[in-house]
Amino acid sequence: MIKAGVSLKIKIRSYRHPEDYKAVFRVWKLARKGIHVSFSDEEEEIKKLVEKNPGLFFLAEIDGKVIGTAMGGFDGRRGIIYHLAVLPEFQNLRIGSKLLSCVEEGLKKAGCSKVYLFVVSENSELSDYYARHGYEKMDVIPLTKKLN
Ligand SMILES: CC(C)(COP(=O)(O)OP(=O)(O)OC[C@H]1O[C@@H](n2cnc3c(N)ncnc32)[C@H](O)[C@@H]1OP(=O)(O)O)[C@@H](O)C(=O)NCCC(=O)NCCS
Repeated sequence: MIKAGVSLKIKIRSYRHPEDYKAVFRVWKLARKGIHVSFSDEEEEIKKLVEKNPGLFFLAEIDGKVIGTAMGGFDGRRGIIYHLAVLPEFQNLRIGSKLLSCVEEGLKKAGCSKVYLFVVSENSELSDYYARHGYEKMDVIPLTKKLN
């Protein structure tokens, strides 16, 4: 936990592939229950995401150390936000909110007018966090299918 009054130089910048991959993967692993790391987070899959969605993956760093991430994607109709995560010792410093705004701005610039994100049920208390950022619950049943 960071002591009150300590000023930190937090930099938000775009993700660079592949040089940032290991550091962002570490953040996802350490972010605890809210982030489920899956095959979609392997290096090749992230490469596909960033090639198709330039300018939508942001990270936060302090002294060159990656401490937060947020990824966006846009399919031409809806945007989606993945892996908003801040290392536990740097949480509650508005870093997550800044990363979220950066992805939203990037999506707007890409022509996106509506965005989705998924909160895993074990992390349902986070709905209030997103509600404060303007997100509404949807009356849908999420379904998924692996294609290979
Ligand atoms: C969710 C997360 C990204 C928020 O980032 P952050 O930088 O810590 O949050 P911010 O500083 O922007 O916002 C802080 C506010 O959010 C609230 N908040 C933070 N995490 C919360 C949580 N898990 N549940 C409910 N509220 C939470 C804080 O209480 C604080 O409220 P306040 O404004 O009344 O003081 C961060 O807590 C995190 O990485 N969590 C683990 C991974 C995760 O669950 N990601 C979301 C995937 S959908």
